[in-house]
Amino acid sequence: MAFTQAPLPYAFDALEPYIDARTMEIHYTAHHAGYVAKLNAALEAYPELMAQPVEALVRSYPDLPEAVRIAVRNQGGGHYNHTFFWSIMTPGGKAESPFMVQCIEQRFQTFKDFQKEFEAKAVSVFGSGWAWLCITPHHTLEVVATSNQDSPITNDLTPILGLDVWEHAYYLKYQSKRPSYIDAWWHVVDWAKVEELYRAACNT
Ligand SMILES: [Fe+2]
Repeated sequence: MAFTQAPLPYAFDALEPYIDARTMEIHYTAHHAGYVAKLNAALEAYPELMAQPVEALVRSYPDLPEAVRIAVRNQGGGHYNHTFFWSIMTPGGKAESPFMVQCIEQRFQTFKDFQKEFEAKAVSVFGSGWAWLCITPHHTLEVVATSNQDSPITNDLTPILGLDVWEHAYYLKYQSKRPSYIDAWWHVVDWAKVEELYRAACNT
C-alpha cells in the first residue's frame, strides 16, 4: 500500500493561457509528486497509517504519533491540497449556476464582494499558502487562508474552492505578480464541481 497521485484530469496545456503548461507540468510531476513520495517515505514503518485515506490523516494529524506528525501535516497536506486543487479547475472554466450565485450572495452580498474577499485573503498570505472557500460545521460559507500545506479540513472546515498561492504555482508566468495569477485563475474554476462539493457538504 502506498499513496499515489490520481492522473491529472486534463493535459498540462489545457488551462492555457491562464495557467501555462510548463508550470502545470512542474507543479504536478515535481511538486505534487514530491509530497506523495515524501509522505510514503515518512509512513513506511506505519502500515496502519498507510492504509488510511490521506484526508483522514490530514484531518487528525495532531493526534498522530509525534514521529510522523510534521510529515503528515506538510507532505500529507500537500498531497491532499493538490489533489483538491486539480479537481476544481477545468479547461475554460465552468460558470457558476444561479443556485451557487444565490448561496454566495446570501453570505457575501454580491458575487463580486465574495471574489474581492477571496482575492484579499489570497494576496495577504505571507510566503506560501492557500486561500479557500469552505463550509463550516454550521453549513455557512467562510473564506480562510492557510500557511504552507496546512489544510482547512484539520479545522473541521470542508473546502469547496481552493487556490494555491505558493510561488511554484505561478512564478514562471506571473513572476511576483500574484494578483495577476489570481485574476487569471478565475477563468479556469469549475463552478459545477464547487456546487457538487457544496451540495454534498450541506446535504442539499
Ligand atoms: Fe502547489
